[in-house]
Formats: sequence, structure tokens, C-alpha cells
Amino acid sequence: MKPVIMVIDDEQAIRLFLEATLQDEGYSIVTFANGADSLDWLSRSVPDLVLLDLMLPDMSGIQVLESLKKLYSHIPVVMITAYSQTDTAVQAMKLDAFDYVNKPIELDRLLKVVAKGLDETSEARESYQQSHQSDLFHGIQDVVPSGSEHMQNIYSTVRKISGGSSTTVLIEGESGVGKDVIANLIHRTSAREEFPFLEVNCAALPESLLESELFGHEKGAFTDAVNQKMGLLELAHSGTLFLDEIGEMALTVQVKLLRVLEKMSFGRVGGMEEISVDVRIIAATNRDLRTLVRQGAFREDLYYRLKVVDLHVPPLRSRKMDILPLTQFFLKKYSTSMAKNFKDLDASAKEVLKHYNWPGNIRELKNVIERTVLLEDGPILKGEYLKKLQIESFAEDLPQRLKECLVNPLPDEGIDLESLVGELEQSLVQKAYDAARGNQSLAARILGLNRDKLRYRIKQYGIKES
Ligand SMILES: Nc1ncnc2c1ncn2[C@@H]1O[C@H](COP(=O)(O)OP(=O)(O)OP(=O)(O)O)[C@@H](O)[C@H]1O
Ligand SMILES: [Mg+2]
Repeated sequence: MKPVIMVIDDEQAIRLFLEATLQDEGYSIVTFANGADSLDWLSRSVPDLVLLDLMLPDMSGIQVLESLKKLYSHIPVVMITAYSQTDTAVQAMKLDAFDYVNKPIELDRLLKVVAKGLDETSEARESYQQSHQSDLFHGIQDVVPSGSEHMQNIYSTVRKISGGSSTTVLIEGESGVGKDVIANLIHRTSAREEFPFLEVNCAALPESLLESELFGHEKGAFTDAVNQKMGLLELAHSGTLFLDEIGEMALTVQVKLLRVLEKMSFGRVGGMEEISVDVRIIAATNRDLRTLVRQGAFREDLYYRLKVVDLHVPPLRSRKMDILPLTQFFLKKYSTSMAKNFKDLDASAKEVLKHYNWPGNIRELKNVIERTVLLEDGPILKGEYLKKLQIESFAEDLPQRLKECLVNPLPDEGIDLESLVGELEQSLVQKAYDAARGNQSLAARILGLNRDKLRYRIKQYGIKES
């Protein structure tokens, strides 16, 4: 992966110059013109090196340096200074800036300093990442840490909120991506871990029941209320309350919840007493809350109140690197629990698993492995056990028009056979070309064509390695 260099300078000319020259050197560049935007980005992402101007419109470079060092002490920060600012440059060095370059920037010197900064700190960075990663997952054995950058950012947010604060968290993501797992991780890695983690599925209960579940009720509050009952908010005191499928919560309950979040107190149904609680609320949804807000099905004020910290858990198909570690984990888990002897997977199984689209995400992967371990014998999970997935992947790859023709009766106006078959041919050639990583002889062999025929088709369809 290319090292990411963050450039913070209010002069557009300098930003453009640095961006162009550093990109040419093979670095990936992000640029910012002021301190606030930079710090906002830094709260979500981790660059490998920072080039920081001493004079910014909204705050001084020294202030940015201080905040940055608090967040990530290991990142080298190179100050950009004017000759007249040597005093401040010295101050920056005391604050652990890595080095400084003077304006006008001398390219040679800049590149040397950047290379040195990246070099000297790559070791420090590795150990920082390891210690932070292992910190968070220390003692946690039922969660496979993700290697994806997006998920790493989520973990780093989870770390930041691990003090016992009651900051509300909203977790969004498709079904089966691991939202419950993240909610639980937030609780278990926080100062609240000794206290209860309670959860309620807002979709599973009718409005009035959900209300009394959350807030509790007094004796006689309604017909069935024969006894006083404590609500989950009270029971979760000092701990965490997880509201799953918050998108399904009735508007009347939303109003009450908003009040709780604002005042951290509430009354039981049918009661007068105001009860104060200290609870972290984590809400999750696989629906797009913004759309629900637009449709009037979800309160806008509550939406903003919930997403103080907003985590989007990405689908499994966009973090394919996690597929094999998760598979290994589930293989071991089910092998043990079903007294089977699965140890590993063969290469073709790996291919099938990586290529499949996983619409049901991690839950689907877990179920596939569970079923395979149950039905087949070890010690190797073979590709042939996963035929069903393979067929589905293949069907997915088929051009849509072709799929429609295969499934439905042929339309009255007829079809264009050549173009349809051409689409099929194109997708197969593309597949072979990708599998062969652009090696034409290999792709030709896969397709059973000679190289001339393959070349002709590559040209005809404009195929490039994807
Ligand atoms: N990182 C992980 N390591 C191990 N197992 C995981 C991981 N992430 C998710 N799982 C497993 O995948 C399954 C689905 O995860 P989870 O229930 O958290 O998904 P979800 O996003 O809450 O889904 P839904 O929207 O349907 O509620 C669970 O059985 C969970 O244990
Ligand atoms: Mg869930």
C-alpha cells in the first residue's frame, strides 16, 4: 500500500505543488487548508506522515501539532516554515515534530526528510498498531479482528470511546455484517464492562410493550400491569443498552427516547417519579435512517442525537480480506463443537469463498461453514463442497439480459442472439483474463482458445484486467 501523506497548508499553490510532486514519488496525498478540517479527518483516519504549515487561518500549526501528537504520537510531522519563523520551528521540534523544511520548499530536501520520516517510523508504527490492536481484542476470543482499513477505523473509534462516557453510538450496516458484535465489543472494551449489557429488538415488540420494556411501569398502569416492573433503562444502569433495529421504533416511543437521551432521566409508565440513569445507548439498524427521516418515519432530532458517534459497518464483499480468517475461525469452532477434524481449506475452496458476493454477509459465511462441517468429512474443506456458492457466483456474473432470457420465455419481438452470446463470451473472457492476471497464454489455455483467437476477442471487447 502507498504511504499516505497528509498536507496541511492554507496556500493553494503549495498544496498543489506538494500534491503533484509527492504523487509522482509514489505517495498517496490528502490535502487540507485549515486546522479544523484536518483534525476532523484525523479523528477518522491515520496518515503515515504529515506536512504541516505553521500558520493556518483558524489555528496555529503548533495547536494542530499538539492535538495530532495526542492522537497518534508515532506519526512523523514535518513542519513547513518561513525563514522568519525559526523560533516557532524550534518550539515545534520541542513538541516532537520530526523535522522542518523552509519555504520556498527545496524539493531535494523535502523528499529526503519525507523518506527518512517514513523510514524511521515504519517500525514504530507497526508496534503501535499491534499494541493498539491487541489491546482492544485482549481477552476477546469470539471476534475475529478485521484487517480492512474501514474496520480498523471503527476499532480506533471504539477505543476512543472506551472511557465510561455515555456517548451514544449509532451502528449502521447491512444484515449480518456484525453490528451486534461491534455493539458488544464497545461494551466489553469499555469502563462499563462490569455492568450490564442489555439489548432489545425494537422490531420484535409492539409499541406499548416496547415502551414498558424500556421504561418499566408502575403497578396498575394498565390492565396487565399487576406488579411494578423495572425497565431496561433502569436495569442497564452504569452499563449499556443496545437498541437493535431502531429504525422500526414507533414514533411515540422515539419521542420518549429522545427525552431520555437529553436528560438521562425518565418516568416509568403510569408513574410520577423521575428516575435518573447513567446508560450508554447503542442503536443499530440495517435500514437507511436518513431515508426514514425523509419519509417522516424517523424523527430527525433523534437521528442526530443518536449519531454522535456513527459507525458504518461495511459489507463482507467490500472487505474480502476478512473472508479467509473468518472461515478459519468458523471452521475451527464448528469442527470442535461437532467433533469433526477439519483443519484447513484447499485452494479452490478459497477461490470460491473469495469470489462469492455474500449478500448475507458474515452470518451467511458462518452458516455455510457450519453446514459444510456438518455434512462433509475433514480434514480439508474442498472447493467441491461449495458447488452451490460457485454456481450462484457464476450466475451473478452473467449479464443481466442473458439471465432474463434464460429464465423467462423469449420475448415476442425476438432476441439478438449474437449480441447476447457475445455478452456471455465477453464475461467469460474477462474472467479468464483476470484469473490469469493478464497473462494471455494462460488465459487462452483456460478458455481452450489459441492465442490469436484470444487476442482477437480481447480487442473486440476492449478487455482489460479488472
Ligand atoms: N468479527 C467477527 N468474528 C466472528 N464472528 C462474527 C464477526 N462478526 C460477525 N460475526 C458473526 O456473524 C453473525 C452475524 O453478526 P451480527 O449478528 O452481529 O450481525 P448484524 O449486523 O447484527 O445482523 P442483523 O442486521 O441481521 O441484526 C453472528 O453470528 C456473529 O457472531
Ligand atoms: Mg443484529
